[in-house]
Amino acid sequence: MAEADSKELKSFGADIPMKTEGFFLKGSGSLGWGMKNRLSRIFNPETGRTVMLAFDHGYIMGPTSGLERLDLAIPPLHDCIDVLMCTRGALRSCITPITDKPVCLRCSAGATILRDLSDELVGVAIEDAIRLNAAAMAVQVYVGGEGEHKCIGNLVKLVDAGMRYGIPVLGVTAVGRELNRDARYLGLATRVIAEVGAQFVKSYFCEPGFEKVVAGCPVPIVIAGGKKLPEADALAMCYKAVDQGALGVDMGRNIFQSEDPAAMAQAVRAVVHGGEKPDKAFDLYKTLKNES
Ligand code: 5RP
Repeated sequence: MAEADSKELKSFGADIPMKTEGFFLKGSGSLGWGMKNRLSRIFNPETGRTVMLAFDHGYIMGPTSGLERLDLAIPPLHDCIDVLMCTRGALRSCITPITDKPVCLRCSAGATILRDLSDELVGVAIEDAIRLNAAAMAVQVYVGGEGEHKCIGNLVKLVDAGMRYGIPVLGVTAVGRELNRDARYLGLATRVIAEVGAQFVKSYFCEPGFEKVVAGCPVPIVIAGGKKLPEADALAMCYKAVDQGALGVDMGRNIFQSEDPAAMAQAVRAVVHGGEKPDKAFDLYKTLKNES
């Protein structure tokens, strides 16, 4: 079992949906009430999907373009998204506690773009996540990276802490510079993260083969947007991802670096929750942008 197996032998049954007995979310039926309640705040029970706004980039990148001023960038997007995904520093300094949006709290830290990104640790005590009323905790997992062992250890610690208090963990598939974002790699990384215990997983979209990545992961997958794309391309990527089984997005740069972030967030929303086709969603983006 030391070597990777042959991809020719794999059979994902990607056209057979996984049964979701006891709860509306894939693989979540055996979780406790508090965990399910928090997941129901993250994923809309009516559509089973979510639009999470990721603006945690500063914890490794400093003042990322579009996020130079969190206090100016995030409030206009607040009503267009379902979940705030950020660090505790951003939350306490720039987000009103009056918000009704659930928070997916970035709970890993310890590396920056100046050094090895995979050299992370658990950066938030469970008591502080509870104090902040976190609906979920997010941890970076560099499968195949220098710090793989440590990252998986961080995931284990957060899942164990989350299980004690009913807080789900989002395991984030983090791809080092040298790793390919193809279906073989993402299939391995998302599956490892789910099996170690994350209640939901963030992955990049890939083609071909994203539907196999989803089928091989027994818990919900949301996609990251990655580097800024033209709006039409980003909307097409969202459409393909949800069409192939992603339960939403945890998107950052393709929203907050858009020429009109609020219009883009609403267009992404139309795709994710409304099943809007990419060309219609792009029309919506242009209309909203012209109106504003
Ligand atoms: C860092 C993260 C970020 O939250 C997220 O991936 C960034 O989102 P995007 O790629 O859409 O800008 O988890 O790895």
